[in-house]
Amino acid sequence: MKVNTICLIFLIFFTFSIVNFASQIDKKVIDLPNPAYDGGISVERALKERRSVRKYSKEEISVTEISQILWSAQGITKKIGGLRTAPSAGALYPLEIYLIAGEVEGIPKGIYKYYPQSHSIKMTQEGDNRQKLLTCCQPFVRKAPAIIVIAGVYERTALKYGKRARQYVHIEAGAAGQNIYLQSESLGIGTVFVGAFIDSRLKSLLFLPEDEHPLGVMPLGRKR
Ligand SMILES: Cc1cc2nc3c(=O)[nH]c(=O)nc-3n(C[C@H](O)[C@H](O)[C@H](O)COP(=O)(O)O)c2cc1C
Repeated sequence: MKVNTICLIFLIFFTFSIVNFASQIDKKVIDLPNPAYDGGISVERALKERRSVRKYSKEEISVTEISQILWSAQGITKKIGGLRTAPSAGALYPLEIYLIAGEVEGIPKGIYKYYPQSHSIKMTQEGDNRQKLLTCCQPFVRKAPAIIVIAGVYERTALKYGKRARQYVHIEAGAAGQNIYLQSESLGIGTVFVGAFIDSRLKSLLFLPEDEHPLGVMPLGRKR
């Protein structure tokens, strides 16, 4: 066989592998439905009715509801500057949002990272990982159909604000958490901001990068 023919076969094989690999990556990305900008209840009503909920029905949550809740946490609301639903010191956006999907209609079970710019999620771990939460969180957390984890990257904010970064990142996690509370209330979904968990175990369960620290866990489910 001539060298040219061998090169051609190699090139075709290489191109096919790349295309195949790229399509496999794409399969792990889910584009979420566009968020709605009007809801069923007023902000005042959501503030009045919001309560921490720790018992959930087994009923599925829909991809539309998950999309809306992720958007409320960190969704883009102004393209120029990439400004988001929650305020951020210096618009540096140190928060990263994860979804542990169990019973969510339209989303295969797995762990996902939320990408605000494309309003999409990308699978980082396949399968139902909720039982593993028993090793790091209060027992009721794993019973929710879906769980959101708010993580923070202190270094991102420290670049500008130095030692005040930890304070600022925690404040931002609180703002995102309140957004999730109010959005969930508007959808008839219950949640609670859980701060009691074993950081190192949750971090390894989610395979978080070294610089990302879990700050809050918010189970989601219809109120029982
Ligand atoms: C920073 C923070 C940490 C919290 N941690 C937990 C927790 O680990 N477990 C839990 O069940 N509730 C937790 N909560 C929820 C509170 O218990 C709850 O907000 C409080 O009892 C008031 O009830 P309400 O949210 O229904 O108004 C936490 C709330 C905040 C703001």
